[in-house]
Amino acid sequence: MAGDYQTVEHDVLVIGAGGAGLRAAIEAASTGLRVGLVCKSLLGKAHTVVAEGGIAAAMANVDDRDGWKVHFADTMRGGQYLSNWRMAELHAKEAPDRVNELEAWGSLFDRTPDGRILQRNFGGHRYPRLAHVGDRTGLEMIRTLQDHGIHQGIDVHMEVTVLTLLTDGGRVCGAFGYDRDRGTFRLFKAAAVVMATGGIGRAYKITSNSWEYTGDGQSLAYHAGAALQDMEFVQFHPTGMIWPPSVRGILVTEGVRGEGGILKNKDGRRFMFDNIPDNYKSSTADNEEEGWRYVTGDKEARRPPELLTRDHVSRMINREVKAGRGSPHGGVFLDIAWIKEKIPQAEAHIKRKLPSMYHQFMQLAGIDITKEPMEIGPTTHYVMGGVRVDGDTQMTTVPGLFACGEVAAGLHGANRLGGNSLSDLVVFGKRAGEHAAAFAKEHPNYTIDTTQADAAARAALAPFDRPANDDGPYQVQDALQTTMQQNVGIVRLEDEMQTALAAIQTLKQKAATVHVRGNREYNPGWHTALDLPNLLTVSEAITRCAIERKESRGGHFREDMPDKDPAFGTFNFVITKGTDGEMQLKRETIPEMPAHLKAAVEENR
Ligand code: FUM
Repeated sequence: MAGDYQTVEHDVLVIGAGGAGLRAAIEAASTGLRVGLVCKSLLGKAHTVVAEGGIAAAMANVDDRDGWKVHFADTMRGGQYLSNWRMAELHAKEAPDRVNELEAWGSLFDRTPDGRILQRNFGGHRYPRLAHVGDRTGLEMIRTLQDHGIHQGIDVHMEVTVLTLLTDGGRVCGAFGYDRDRGTFRLFKAAAVVMATGGIGRAYKITSNSWEYTGDGQSLAYHAGAALQDMEFVQFHPTGMIWPPSVRGILVTEGVRGEGGILKNKDGRRFMFDNIPDNYKSSTADNEEEGWRYVTGDKEARRPPELLTRDHVSRMINREVKAGRGSPHGGVFLDIAWIKEKIPQAEAHIKRKLPSMYHQFMQLAGIDITKEPMEIGPTTHYVMGGVRVDGDTQMTTVPGLFACGEVAAGLHGANRLGGNSLSDLVVFGKRAGEHAAAFAKEHPNYTIDTTQADAAARAALAPFDRPANDDGPYQVQDALQTTMQQNVGIVRLEDEMQTALAAIQTLKQKAATVHVRGNREYNPGWHTALDLPNLLTVSEAITRCAIERKESRGGHFREDMPDKDPAFGTFNFVITKGTDGEMQLKRETIPEMPAHLKAAVEENR
């Protein structure tokens, strides 16, 4: 029966158990409150582990010119000045403390010869800034947070999907979901809820995201009245596996390029030298032996062009493939084996610094990366847009609802720098946990309206009662992923995006009539049907914002409008649900940056 459900009560409920959710739960639990942590899958299985190459923090262990101001300026430039500058400031200032905290809790980072935490180069970061554990940094971070978290008295609800947030007079007061194995419902009462569900990658065909990432948090928050921001900015990581077809999209860490990997087309040409953007001045662009250099005032850093920002590298790869200069399976070549010309014992070095990549290619593609190049191509990796939050507290526009990590917008603006995701998770996970706990203490009283739960239960069970038709949940999901990949991907055009928007409207109707067979226990078809409304909500938000952004900036590139328009650099797009149930899109002016931050940007241009 729809009305049957188990009720559990926490003071703070954290939905999502990747790096951000775990860190938020740890912080909230440290205040003595009862904390519940919901995982869609098993604890520890999170997209956090796909951030392989490192966590960005200006610790200055490898280059003492680094500091929070340089990290702040790099983040703002990478985000094309659409970032929430307060978040970028807090992130740059607090990331080193969060890394040291991870180390104190047991993370075993790689070391410099004198025993400090080692930092490596990554795209868009001026100095070597990524603290890392080989190419398994996200995994080590999750392991650490999990180990630490389970001793904090947190109640973990594994394999539970949240269907709706519960509200009381405009504030959030819990959530309603179901156990994925038994199909039974669960009602969570909580004075504050932290959303930490990660990204939207499964809205696309080719993605580094696993099955959990269907935009649940963005969609749940939006339908509960929260605002979404800048959803058009989707990051296509330049290097995903492309062959064999079964592994297409799996991430190949930027750490490969950080360790010296170079990109070549089928003619062996290092095409990244062909187009270096003006804002990265190049004095030795034609000197492959020396590598590429950008010069800023009296500060100078030598960087290869493969470490330009991800949006640029992805477009360059796309260009080679479209021009017929790609690899046999529609990508380009990434070569780390060449470093044997430069360093002794290169094979051992590659295996030590990139052990997962070595095994991944050996086992999945039969390629020995110490000897031959990899075939790679762009993969949908991350969404910079998300739930709009207050920079200090991470509270959304709905009282009692907080958001942190990838599900939240703000820090990364139009494009995220690699490694800034892991630092984002712990800096803002901690802040969200702290402020959610404070909110729960200040506002402990609320009333649960069980009709909200009943309605969600009825909607969830409806697919079983519908007549069978041609469009099952998998067909609708596949059609959506195909249209998003083809029409709202790396290179966008007005008419293609309009095609996608029309397709999304049709698919919404189909999703509302999908039929599922079987019963509630262990039913993946049913799970897929329940994911569809979230996928469709985020896809519509991405497409609507992308159509409205009549320029190219960061992760959003329009072939019909390839230039940046300064008029679009002064506001964020904000989407809310109108009273008619339709998406309302408006522009919110970005507040002026304070003088000390303007100075940091100027000093580090
Ligand atoms: O390439 C990578 O290791 C990914 C890192 C990130 O997305 O931050």
